[in-house]
Amino acid sequence: MLLNYNKKVMKEFTNPKNMGEIKNPSGVGKIGNPTCGDIIWVYIKVGKDKRGNEILKDIKFKTFGCAAAIATSSMVTKLAKGKKVSYAEKINYKEIVKSLGGLPNIKIHCSTMATEALNRAILDYKKKSRKGNKENKKNDKKR
Ligand code: FES
Repeated sequence: MLLNYNKKVMKEFTNPKNMGEIKNPSGVGKIGNPTCGDIIWVYIKVGKDKRGNEILKDIKFKTFGCAAAIATSSMVTKLAKGKKVSYAEKINYKEIVKSLGGLPNIKIHCSTMATEALNRAILDYKKKSRKGNKENKKNDKKR
Protein backbone atom coordinates (compact mmCIF):
# COMPACT_ATOMS: atom_id res chain seq x y z
CA MET A 1 0.00 0.00 0.00
CA LEU A 2 1.37 3.42 -0.95
CA LEU A 3 1.11 5.79 1.99
CA ASN A 4 1.00 9.54 1.84
CA TYR A 5 3.94 10.59 3.99
CA ASN A 6 4.59 14.31 4.23
CA LYS A 7 7.91 15.92 3.21
CA LYS A 8 9.28 16.04 6.78
CA VAL A 9 8.71 12.33 7.28
CA MET A 10 10.29 11.53 3.93
CA LYS A 11 13.30 13.71 4.74
CA GLU A 12 13.77 12.01 8.11
CA PHE A 13 13.34 8.58 6.53
CA THR A 14 15.77 9.17 3.67
CA ASN A 15 18.31 11.07 5.79
CA PRO A 16 17.99 9.69 9.34
CA LYS A 17 20.17 11.07 12.12
CA ASN A 18 21.93 9.15 14.92
CA MET A 19 21.69 5.81 13.21
CA GLY A 20 23.98 3.07 14.52
CA GLU A 21 25.17 1.56 17.76
CA ILE A 22 27.05 2.85 20.81
CA LYS A 23 29.92 0.75 22.14
CA ASN A 24 29.61 0.12 25.89
CA PRO A 25 26.26 1.90 26.17
CA SER A 26 24.81 3.01 29.51
CA GLY A 27 21.53 1.42 28.47
CA VAL A 28 19.85 -0.40 25.59
CA GLY A 29 16.16 -0.61 24.80
CA LYS A 30 14.64 -3.00 22.32
CA ILE A 31 11.07 -3.31 21.18
CA GLY A 32 9.46 -5.45 18.52
CA ASN A 33 5.99 -5.47 17.09
CA PRO A 34 4.81 -9.03 16.42
CA THR A 35 2.10 -7.83 14.01
CA CYS A 36 4.35 -6.01 11.53
CA GLY A 37 7.61 -7.69 12.53
CA ASP A 38 9.48 -4.40 12.96
CA ILE A 39 12.19 -3.99 15.62
CA ILE A 40 13.79 -0.87 17.13
CA TRP A 41 16.92 -0.71 19.30
CA VAL A 42 17.90 2.48 21.12
CA TYR A 43 21.36 2.89 22.69
CA ILE A 44 22.14 5.63 25.18
CA LYS A 45 25.28 6.99 26.80
CA VAL A 46 24.58 8.91 29.99
CA GLY A 47 26.89 11.57 31.34
CA LYS A 48 26.61 14.65 33.53
CA ASP A 49 26.31 18.31 32.64
CA LYS A 50 28.14 21.12 34.47
CA ARG A 51 25.44 21.19 37.13
CA GLY A 52 25.69 17.46 37.75
CA ASN A 53 22.42 16.59 36.00
CA GLU A 54 22.29 13.27 34.20
CA ILE A 55 22.07 13.90 30.47
CA LEU A 56 21.98 11.80 27.31
CA LYS A 57 25.45 12.54 25.99
CA ASP A 58 24.83 10.27 23.05
CA ILE A 59 21.94 8.31 21.61
CA LYS A 60 21.73 6.06 18.58
CA PHE A 61 19.20 3.74 17.04
CA LYS A 62 18.95 0.74 14.77
CA THR A 63 15.61 0.10 13.17
CA PHE A 64 14.49 -2.81 11.11
CA GLY A 65 11.18 -1.53 9.90
CA CYS A 66 8.94 0.71 7.88
CA ALA A 67 9.61 4.29 6.75
CA ALA A 68 7.63 5.68 9.71
CA ALA A 69 9.56 3.54 12.18
CA ILE A 70 12.87 4.86 10.81
CA ALA A 71 11.65 8.48 10.68
CA THR A 72 10.25 8.34 14.24
CA SER A 73 13.38 6.61 15.58
CA SER A 74 15.51 9.36 14.07
CA MET A 75 13.23 12.07 15.48
CA VAL A 76 13.17 10.61 18.99
CA THR A 77 16.99 10.57 19.07
CA LYS A 78 17.12 14.16 17.83
CA LEU A 79 14.69 15.32 20.51
CA ALA A 80 16.49 13.43 23.29
CA LYS A 81 20.18 13.99 22.46
CA GLY A 82 21.94 16.23 24.98
CA LYS A 83 18.81 16.53 27.12
CA LYS A 84 18.36 15.60 30.76
CA VAL A 85 17.39 11.96 31.35
CA SER A 86 14.35 13.20 33.30
CA TYR A 87 13.23 15.12 30.20
CA ALA A 88 13.98 12.34 27.72
CA GLU A 89 11.91 9.77 29.58
CA LYS A 90 8.85 12.01 29.25
CA ILE A 91 9.03 12.38 25.45
CA ASN A 92 5.86 10.85 24.13
CA TYR A 93 4.68 9.78 20.73
CA LYS A 94 2.48 12.87 20.26
CA GLU A 95 5.59 15.05 20.40
CA ILE A 96 7.27 12.86 17.78
CA VAL A 97 4.26 12.92 15.49
CA LYS A 98 4.00 16.71 15.86
CA SER A 99 7.72 17.17 15.13
CA LEU A 100 7.27 15.15 11.96
CA GLY A 101 4.29 17.26 10.88
CA GLY A 102 1.92 14.31 11.27
CA LEU A 103 1.77 10.65 10.32
CA PRO A 104 -0.91 8.58 8.60
CA ASN A 105 -3.20 7.15 11.32
CA ILE A 106 -2.18 3.57 10.67
CA LYS A 107 1.44 4.58 11.31
CA ILE A 108 0.98 6.16 14.74
CA HIS A 109 1.97 2.90 16.43
CA CYS A 110 5.43 3.20 14.85
CA SER A 111 6.00 6.40 16.85
CA THR A 112 4.92 4.72 20.09
CA MET A 113 7.50 2.00 19.42
CA ALA A 114 10.28 4.57 19.07
CA THR A 115 9.45 6.28 22.38
CA GLU A 116 9.02 2.92 24.11
CA ALA A 117 12.48 1.82 22.91
CA LEU A 118 13.96 5.01 24.41
CA ASN A 119 12.08 4.43 27.68
CA ARG A 120 13.39 0.88 27.85
CA ALA A 121 16.95 2.10 27.28
CA ILE A 122 16.57 4.57 30.16
CA LEU A 123 15.08 1.85 32.38
CA ASP A 124 17.98 -0.42 31.51
CA TYR A 125 20.40 2.35 32.46
CA LYS A 126 18.60 2.92 35.79
CA LYS A 127 18.64 -0.78 36.61
CA LYS A 128 22.35 -1.02 35.84
CA SER A 129 23.26 2.06 37.84
CA ARG A 130 21.20 0.85 40.82
CA LYS A 131 22.99 -2.49 40.63
CA GLY A 132 26.33 -0.69 40.35
CA ASN A 133 25.53 1.44 43.41
CA LYS A 134 24.61 -1.65 45.45
CA GLU A 135 27.86 -3.38 44.46
CA ASN A 136 29.85 -0.26 45.34
CA LYS A 137 28.21 -0.17 48.78
CA LYS A 138 29.02 -3.86 49.29
CA ASN A 139 32.65 -3.24 48.33
CA ASP A 140 32.77 -0.21 50.65
CA LYS A 141 31.63 -2.39 53.55
CA LYS A 142 34.32 -4.97 52.79
CA ARG A 143 37.03 -2.29 52.92
FE1 FES B 1 5.54 -1.67 12.22
FE2 FES B 1 5.82 0.76 11.33
S1 FES B 1 4.58 -0.81 10.51
S2 FES B 1 6.71 -0.09 13.06
